[in-house]
Amino acid sequence: MTSSCLPPPRKAPCAPNAGTPPEGRHPATVASLLFVVAALLALVACGETPAPHDPAPQAIAGSADLSDAARQGKTVFDTNCAQCHGPEATGTNLGPTFIDRIYHPGHHGDAAFHLAVTRGVRQHHWNFGNMLPVPGVTETQVGQIICYVRHLQLTNNIFKPTEYQPAC
Ligand code: HEC
Repeated sequence: MTSSCLPPPRKAPCAPNAGTPPEGRHPATVASLLFVVAALLALVACGETPAPHDPAPQAIAGSADLSDAARQGKTVFDTNCAQCHGPEATGTNLGPTFIDRIYHPGHHGDAAFHLAVTRGVRQHHWNFGNMLPVPGVTETQVGQIICYVRHLQLTNNIFKPTEYQPAC
């Protein structure tokens, strides 16, 4: 259910408009050479390698207005997850931020959180390495973490209230 790379754009960003050929065709103009180079770069950028760690969004809205369950989730998260996923889930050099479209509830549903904690995660989206299972965090606590993370995502416009409603 998780795709590791967004589909590459259909056209290279600087592709000339195919419908309007330039006046006077020169066989190998500097412009066409530049286009070839740009197309090659685009290919490299959309290759098979995992995406590099995007920098966390500049200013994320923090954990104001948490429900009781989400507040408990924050405590469990801060103790067990924040050393890699960062305070307020903004990421560190050991693990990704969850304030990212990749972790939209439609891409990584709540089950992904339960599985990550009980079974760990094999590296597939980033270059941080694998995540090991986190023993000692109960199913109820994972539910509270999900409330917390979804609250942060909602507050930071990762999804709209019409797309998904946090359970608590
Ligand atoms: C030692 C570092 C570390 C800790 C601690 C950690 N994680 Fe992770 N986690 C990672 C890394 C690294 C990834 C990214 C793997 C990838 O996709 O390349 C990840 C990915 C995830 C994912 C995405 C799973 C998927 O299907 O792609 C979830 C959900 C997650 N972690 C939840 C948690 C929760 C909840 C906790 C705390 C209970 C936690 N993590 C603690 C390192 C960690």
